[in-house]
Amino acid sequence: MKISRFKLILPALIAWAGFGVSYADGVHQMNVDVKKKGAEISNTMYGLFFEDINFAADGGLYAELVKNRSFDFPYALTGWLPAGNVQIMNDGPFENNPNYVRLGGSGHGSKFTAITNEGFFGIGLKAGEKYRFSVYARSDAPRGSSVRIELIDKAAMGEQQAFVKHNLRIDSKEWKKYTVELTSPVTISKAQLRIFLTGQSNVDLEHVSLFPVDTWKGRENGLRKDLVQALADIKPGVFRFPGGCIVEGTDLETRYNWKNSVGPVENRKLNENRWHYTFDTRLFPDYFQSYGMGFYEFFLLCEDIGAEPLPVVSCGLACQFQNGKDAHCSLDEIDTFVQDAIDLVEFANGDVTTKWGALRAEMGHPEPFGMKYLAVGNEQWGEEYIEHVIPFIEALRKKCPEIEIVGTSGPYASGEYFDYLWPKMKELEADLVDEHYYCPEDWFINNAARYDSYERKGPKVFAGEYACHGSGRKWNHFNASLLEAGFMTGLERNADIVRMATYAPLFAHVEGWQWRPDLIWYDNLNVTRSCSYYVQQMYSTNKGTHVLKLLDDSQKPYTGAAGQDGLYASAVYDETDNSIVIKVINIGDDNQDINVVLSGLKRNETLKKGVVTTLHSDDIYADNVPHTNLVIEPETIKPVTSEIELNGQNLSVTVPAKTFAVYRLYR
Ligand code: AHR
Repeated sequence: MKISRFKLILPALIAWAGFGVSYADGVHQMNVDVKKKGAEISNTMYGLFFEDINFAADGGLYAELVKNRSFDFPYALTGWLPAGNVQIMNDGPFENNPNYVRLGGSGHGSKFTAITNEGFFGIGLKAGEKYRFSVYARSDAPRGSSVRIELIDKAAMGEQQAFVKHNLRIDSKEWKKYTVELTSPVTISKAQLRIFLTGQSNVDLEHVSLFPVDTWKGRENGLRKDLVQALADIKPGVFRFPGGCIVEGTDLETRYNWKNSVGPVENRKLNENRWHYTFDTRLFPDYFQSYGMGFYEFFLLCEDIGAEPLPVVSCGLACQFQNGKDAHCSLDEIDTFVQDAIDLVEFANGDVTTKWGALRAEMGHPEPFGMKYLAVGNEQWGEEYIEHVIPFIEALRKKCPEIEIVGTSGPYASGEYFDYLWPKMKELEADLVDEHYYCPEDWFINNAARYDSYERKGPKVFAGEYACHGSGRKWNHFNASLLEAGFMTGLERNADIVRMATYAPLFAHVEGWQWRPDLIWYDNLNVTRSCSYYVQQMYSTNKGTHVLKLLDDSQKPYTGAAGQDGLYASAVYDETDNSIVIKVINIGDDNQDINVVLSGLKRNETLKKGVVTTLHSDDIYADNVPHTNLVIEPETIKPVTSEIELNGQNLSVTVPAKTFAVYRLYR
């Protein structure tokens, strides 16, 4: 409800001078009782959802620069350009990845035999940075043989092409790992790696790898530092992985089987990636899952960035969109899937004397990872899901009572599947229910009150995948992010039942995307954070500890309802610094004056200082990666923080049109 704007004309005038947009009449009154601390806000409230889509793992977060390093793609030389005498052999040292190449050292081929790897849309290298090349190799000659490792710029001419050259003697008839550090003298986004046979005799090569030395935390089988930094900067409370649809698989054979993703990287069995063919207009025949970044690396990442791990396991149903009624394993076979889930808990939390706990220790982490949540199935639906999930729930309750179980409500935010599954999840006493909504603008505009009327008893809500998909603008742009911000006030206000929320998808390579919008974009050298990223970050870093009621004069929350002029708002108390945080989103075309009245402060208590962080774009269809050319350039739309003067027990400000503003108030 509004009061006369003349009472608050000064701030309005100040803002008018700054923005030059017309004002709506009156002032919006927002009442917050700071004494009545509401529900605690879960530490897991704002998190991340990782799926290997858009080249998010290989070619993205996983820092390996060589594509098809084990020659085990269905077409063994995918990613490689062979020259001369190159043969594919299949009796290699790693059982699950048996292929390797033989560079033939006899006859004509020995003059120019080489293989060249194109990387993922090229190999990104930075001047002065070190790169660790490694390979398993052997030579059948008594005196060995040799190769030359080259980093090349194909676009350059003649001698300039190979800007790094390193001779490597292969001195053993047995398979042996060779490691070499190379320093790049140049910054280049599309280099290639060439291995040239220089000796007279055969050389066999397997698991050819090139990593930046400077990975996140310097780990050898590491992750791309700039991308992990972007994740860490969100301060996520929970991290859902590894998908999404890839958990289900196009068929059960190709589901994500976590057991294939642990142990020595050389022996992790390659899997297809369904996103290579899901959209025939975005076909990527060279997109597979090496599992180099597997469950161990996921758990480590969660630990590094302070997020609770939330793995998702297959429930024995492959993608129902693709398989209909034939998606399932028969219930006679379900035990294998259930056992995989139980074993996963042992891998994460088990004592080092257990089978899977011992593997975790062997991989370098004897301490348990402290996993608390497990999701069973992704976007499943119907009776089949219920039949399949029951054995999981029974077994987990019995054997792993410490684990909170996340069930699903299907792929949509409402409708037949949703209406069937929610009551079932209550009946089965799932701890949380995963909801997904990729919806257009009007859905986000109208759904900030979605959870206000949810039943308070029973499972909690996990908004596991959501994003505003603009109608006609299904790509990143500021307006979509602004509407997400408005909608999220409803998550925050209902933090008593909404325990987790994760935007989706997380990552996209500008040359390798299949799905957009996405939170973080990158090429081989640079990263950019979208407007949606900043919305997530502004929520997560201003999460607070307790909900405070924020109501208009007619006791209604600000949900963009009629008469509220496109305003959405929520409030929290943060006991870590005794501050009060007010989030206001103005999705309208006019600036709006607001007057936040903090009741419940002591009589002489006044607000001392305030900090406001705003996210705004003059062009609501813009984002940090323009959708037209998808080029990573310096970010133009970012949060801006400044101090605000406060006096008394009110916050009287103008929220500019098309702006997300977070006010942190100290007393
Ligand atoms: O986030 C992309 C896909 O959307 C996920 O894999 C799936 O769960 C949903 O349909």
